[in-house]
Amino acid sequence: MRMTVIGTGYLGATHAVAMAELGHEVLGVDVDQAKIDLLSAGQVPFHEPGLSELLGKHVATGAVRFTTSYEEAGAFGDVHFIGVGTPQKRNGHAADMTYVDSAVEQISRAATHDCVIAGKSTVPVGSAARLQELALTSAPSGTRVSLVWNPEFLREGHAVEDTLRPDRMVLGLEYDDAGRPTSAAQAAEAVLREVYAHQLEAGIPFIVTDYATAELVKVAANSFLAIKISFINALSEITETVGGDIRTLADAIGLDERIGRKFLNAGVGFGGGCLPKDIRALRARASELGLDQSLRFLAEVDDINLRRREYTVQLAVQECGGSLHGTQIAVLGAAFKPESDDVRDSPALDIAARLHSMGADVRLYDPQANANAAQRYPRLDYVASLDAAVTGAQVTLLLTEWREFRDMDPRHVASLVGTPTIIDGRNVLDPAAWQDAGWRYLALGRRH
Ligand code: UDX
Repeated sequence: MRMTVIGTGYLGATHAVAMAELGHEVLGVDVDQAKIDLLSAGQVPFHEPGLSELLGKHVATGAVRFTTSYEEAGAFGDVHFIGVGTPQKRNGHAADMTYVDSAVEQISRAATHDCVIAGKSTVPVGSAARLQELALTSAPSGTRVSLVWNPEFLREGHAVEDTLRPDRMVLGLEYDDAGRPTSAAQAAEAVLREVYAHQLEAGIPFIVTDYATAELVKVAANSFLAIKISFINALSEITETVGGDIRTLADAIGLDERIGRKFLNAGVGFGGGCLPKDIRALRARASELGLDQSLRFLAEVDDINLRRREYTVQLAVQECGGSLHGTQIAVLGAAFKPESDDVRDSPALDIAARLHSMGADVRLYDPQANANAAQRYPRLDYVASLDAAVTGAQVTLLLTEWREFRDMDPRHVASLVGTPTIIDGRNVLDPAAWQDAGWRYLALGRRH
């Protein structure tokens, strides 16, 4: 089938390549000419394991191409996926729909034949119904544009496998007043079933529902993940006071299948382009709907998460004798999680910037994210290796759990630092091994 993917960031670029891998002809669309040039040359503008190999393969055969032209896209595609961003608004917590609105309007206007628009971006509930109206009013007369909502659940660092082999796929359709899919929606569902035929044959669950449910699945899933992380981090505050081991606690409750061990890793908390923004946007949307009370607790989830950053900063201050002025601090990690170069709302970078603003000389090393971090906070001292970061440091903070950091040899690192004090902000090191090598080992969720 011929399809376009509008927006070629993490979500869109991965989706475009995955669709080519499923055997479709794909045209990626973006307003950013530089990004389009890179992708057309088979280069991925961000770090995502496995993506550049797959992109190279499909660019070479012509299965995937890229353009900035909506005219070209409108003439080409029978299905148009929308994968543009919905960042947090500057003046509040709601999601900014400017890019989604513009993409839907422009592709509808450029459509030369009947087509389906499939929204993948994370949007406030109620958006799809409004966007279907926008598509209808923007499309040339006689051209039918049907809109479905098809949220994306990919994790950065695992984007390719998550897109090709997701846990589930969700499709939101326009319903009539009697609560049934309209005939246009049923036709659109058939088109999407064809797009995903291979995955459906492989038995991936396909949940077909109304617009609102489909929109909510995404933000509900991300909010639940955020709740799990903040829950264990709230318990960290308790174990820090009374003693106890947060990792063993997580292991023990996680063995209850109803709870599960995943997303119970205590540490500096969640960041990135999704979890923080999604809990805020969901809460903001609930307030708009007059339901402020329903999701008020998400504000607490956000607060617990941000408190972890402050606590980590305070630990470092305490280890430096109460003031950071003139101290040298090693920060390991800037990305919001390993296997990604994304520094959006990254706890690691936020903590590093705060330490710097309090007078510390911060030497930061991240295996992939130094360049993105430097764009955001140019005043930190970015170094090209782990050894360079730790040499002479008074305190070393591990804030993103890259394998390179998990595998550090405590004796080797001890031979480089000024003072062997480490704050394990992700609870990934073996305390005994570090203590045996002469370190003062501190971790979040433990009494010191
Ligand atoms: C998330 C969702 O997982 C994904 O399904 C959705 O499509 C987009 O948002 P992502 O933002 O890529 O994906 O990262 P994720 O792996 O969920 O991690 C989010 C943050 O939580 C990271 O900062 C990570 O370090 C942190 N985290 C995760 C914890 O602090 N503890 C954990 O136990 C798990």
